[in-house]
Amino acid sequence: MTNKSQIIVKEATLDDLKAVQDLSHQLFEHDVPFEPALNMNWSYEESGRKFFVNAISDDDKCCFVAFNDEEIVGYLAGSVKPGQDYEKGTVAELDNTLVLDEYRGLGVGRKLFDEFKIWAKSKKVDRLYVSAYFDNSDAVAFYHAVGFKNYGWSLKMEVNNDEES
Ligand SMILES: CC(C)(COP(=O)(O)OP(=O)(O)OC[C@H]1O[C@@H](n2cnc3c(N)ncnc32)[C@H](O)[C@@H]1OP(=O)(O)O)[C@@H](O)C(=O)NCCC(=O)NCCS
Repeated sequence: MTNKSQIIVKEATLDDLKAVQDLSHQLFEHDVPFEPALNMNWSYEESGRKFFVNAISDDDKCCFVAFNDEEIVGYLAGSVKPGQDYEKGTVAELDNTLVLDEYRGLGVGRKLFDEFKIWAKSKKVDRLYVSAYFDNSDAVAFYHAVGFKNYGWSLKMEVNNDEES
């Protein structure tokens, strides 16, 4: 039985890249019922690989991994964002996160988030943002629990190009 104190969160290195890509792929599998348009190969394609290499290597991005002994059981990727020029201050975004199913509810996601917040503070950002699919109510409950507040809506419309108007 795993307990929270056994879990160690570290900054990911390039040695962790494959494990992070695998967890990202699991996130896509988790999220595809909420967004059927997801490209299920992205985590292993050049753009996905580059996203995580940059998250691990770049100064204005971060990637944290949670270890249970030798096994990586969760990750979180984030980045400082340019922000909108019509809004004040600087921002960071929690880009994506996943904890393996069997490790959920043990505080692993919060441990990853705490490290992300410490990192974001070190970058002197004024606000954190995160997005979740509308029907991913578990993720929204988690984000509320760690301190995020609702602030807007994102909407989309599928366009049928075969229709006349
Ligand atoms: C979202 C996710 C990362 C949370 O990780 P986790 O390790 O299970 O979360 P924790 O155990 O650290 O929970 C932290 C807090 O969130 C709350 N929480 C987590 N999941 C919750 C849920 N489904 N319903 C209500 N509260 C929840 C916990 O009660 C806890 O609150 P507390 O610290 O005040 O007691 C994990 O559920 C997951 O990987 N989900 C699938 C992928 C996903 O949806 N990712 C986010 C989209 S980018």
